[in-house]
Amino acid sequence: MAIELYRDNTHACLMFTDLMEEDGQAVQCNQFLIVDNGTGAIIDPGGNLAFNELFMGMTRHFPPKNLSYVIASHADPDIIASLDRWMTSTKASLVISRVWERFAPHFTKVGKTENRVIGVPDSGGRLPLGNSELLLLPAHFMHSEGNFHFYDPVSRILFTGDLAVSMTTGAEARKPVVNIQAHIPRMEAFHRRYMVSNKILRLWTKMARQLDVQMLVPQHGAPILGKKAVEDFYCWIENLECGIDIFNEQNYQVPSAYIDPVTRQMRAPSSTATATA
Ligand SMILES: [Fe+2]
Ligand SMILES: [Fe+2]
Repeated sequence: MAIELYRDNTHACLMFTDLMEEDGQAVQCNQFLIVDNGTGAIIDPGGNLAFNELFMGMTRHFPPKNLSYVIASHADPDIIASLDRWMTSTKASLVISRVWERFAPHFTKVGKTENRVIGVPDSGGRLPLGNSELLLLPAHFMHSEGNFHFYDPVSRILFTGDLAVSMTTGAEARKPVVNIQAHIPRMEAFHRRYMVSNKILRLWTKMARQLDVQMLVPQHGAPILGKKAVEDFYCWIENLECGIDIFNEQNYQVPSAYIDPVTRQMRAPSSTATATA
């Protein structure tokens, strides 16, 4: 079931949180549908697990021929592994960073993306949608090298891809967060490892503060709702050390531990005991 993040007479933002098996093997993902005056865009459609239900969900709002775009924040499998099916079932264009423009066709059968990819330059841009538009905001290295976030000026939602994510179930992802301090333990480990550097987080925050944002909506986990929670998130993330700030010589040693293919655990070189990685 989709959650309505926003709706008025001509514009809607829908979020799907549970279009996959929750058996713990694949990370929980959110997919988004934005509709303006009867035409629409899918943001970060996800893998094949999500395709059928997302497609059906979309057809409740408009016919598939009215899907203008499949918009991808970056090119990870949890973002566009289903690209072949979207290119086959609709006439939509793929909107993706120029960094990934010539890599994305590897997700599809030959020819499916021909003349259907809008490669976005690093500086981003304003993309028309129905009678409105989406802002494609630079978010490179957060975490992907060619990465965009999407701001919808009607709903004042900023879709932040892999930024502001939390590790939750689909049910938990439906409940917006208003208290950032209590939420940090669910975000911290991910951001420390997946975000590239504090410099990038500070540059992004400076840009994001210029926008009127009512809600941050990530691709994994729960939305962050309200001006105070959004500003508290900015304050946390602009002070976070992550990625190359933390990595040092110790992280680049020729390895000695064994990978046991039976237990799928790491094993220290001089012991038979199983050690954690
Ligand atoms: Fe990603
Ligand atoms: Fe992701």
